[in-house]
Amino acid sequence: MKTQTVLVTGGLGYIGSHTCIALLENNYDLVIIDNLIKSNITVLSAIEELTGKNPKFYNFDIRNKDKIKDVLDNNNIDAVIHFAAFKSINESIEKPLLYYDNNVVGVLKLLEALQEKKIYNFIFSSSAAVYGNPSKSPVTEENLRSVTNPYAATKLIAENILLDLAKADDLWKISILRYFNPIGAHSSGLIGEIPDKIPNNLMPYINLVASGHFPYLNVFGGDYNTKDGTAIRDYLHVSDLAESHVAALKGLNFQNGADAFNIGTGKGISVLELINAFEESNKVKVPYKIIERRIGDSESVFADPSKAIKALKWKAKKNLLQMCEDSWRWQKRR
Ligand code: NAD
Ligand code: WQD
Repeated sequence: MKTQTVLVTGGLGYIGSHTCIALLENNYDLVIIDNLIKSNITVLSAIEELTGKNPKFYNFDIRNKDKIKDVLDNNNIDAVIHFAAFKSINESIEKPLLYYDNNVVGVLKLLEALQEKKIYNFIFSSSAAVYGNPSKSPVTEENLRSVTNPYAATKLIAENILLDLAKADDLWKISILRYFNPIGAHSSGLIGEIPDKIPNNLMPYINLVASGHFPYLNVFGGDYNTKDGTAIRDYLHVSDLAESHVAALKGLNFQNGADAFNIGTGKGISVLELINAFEESNKVKVPYKIIERRIGDSESVFADPSKAIKALKWKAKKNLLQMCEDSWRWQKRR
């Protein structure tokens, strides 16, 4: 069978880089676009070191449609995986225009270029954030989509653009992957998440407490109606998440139009359970204080991943201890 060439936007970011490795290991050829605004060129060397392959790399902003069209003219692209976007909920509340511009204009320009060049296979990084505060978990894909912050709104708008596009033209094959809470890092410790100076997400914060950068972790809320009072999420290993993109690419062959899939483990884990697993697997201490709830947080959000398991034949394999070990190995190397 002919080797397929995949264009990956945001391919040097946290999830993109792990997905590039999974794609190269599955013998896809790659073309990566990343403007390095949230990543570093050293990630490309790490991908090359880990796979022994040299993907093509372009450094520019995906909102530049002419440059995207040049890339499409110069490479035989079969499918696109679109990661390039901003992802901080807090920052999106402070700078909504920045988020709408990068995340919505970005996908729009990319799709226009693809349509002009007749490339119709597309995989989109969406988020469990499109479900807002779901009234019950596990959450299925049919759950109401209702967002509570500008970041999530950019994902919802992009999803709607994709759904409309697939309705208007049946040449499009679009897979919308709604990620739950990716954590962990490549088992080599060579690539992982590069967080903001003060991270918003839980696992990067745990890493920085365990390594002594911060004295303790603030646990947001101890009075939820859950097993230990702390909030519940669906943490999945980033390498499992990466594999879901390989599965989705294969799935496009059997799919018509646009479809959405939850990408999670289906297991709800509390904040204290994650802290305990981290301490146990890495033999380190993570001091914490329970403080008030974080505004906008849900009590319990975890996936029903059965649609992806059935249709994409993808299932998360790595357990919580592996997620914690790999996160810590990456942190120690940094
Ligand atoms: P990341 O910030 O590590 O990676 C994003 C990459 O895109 C970075 O390398 C950045 O430099 C690049 N980029 C951003 N805007 C760009 C632009 N306009 N042009 C070119 N490159 C650009 O983020 P991530 O965690 O890897 O997330 C990837 C995708 O998955 C995003 O769309 C994000 O919204 C989505 N997502 C992430 C999570 C999560 O918890 N990490 C959860 C759900 C969904
Ligand atoms: C997880 C749990 C916090 C930090 C968001 C998006 C989701 C995805 C990941 C992009 C919550 C608690 C956290 C801390 C804590 N991103 N926490 N102390 O909010 O579930 O999901 O980011 O799309 O779509 O919605 O992730 O890692 O911020 O929080 O107690 O310092 O950890 O309250 O219960 P969240 P998170």
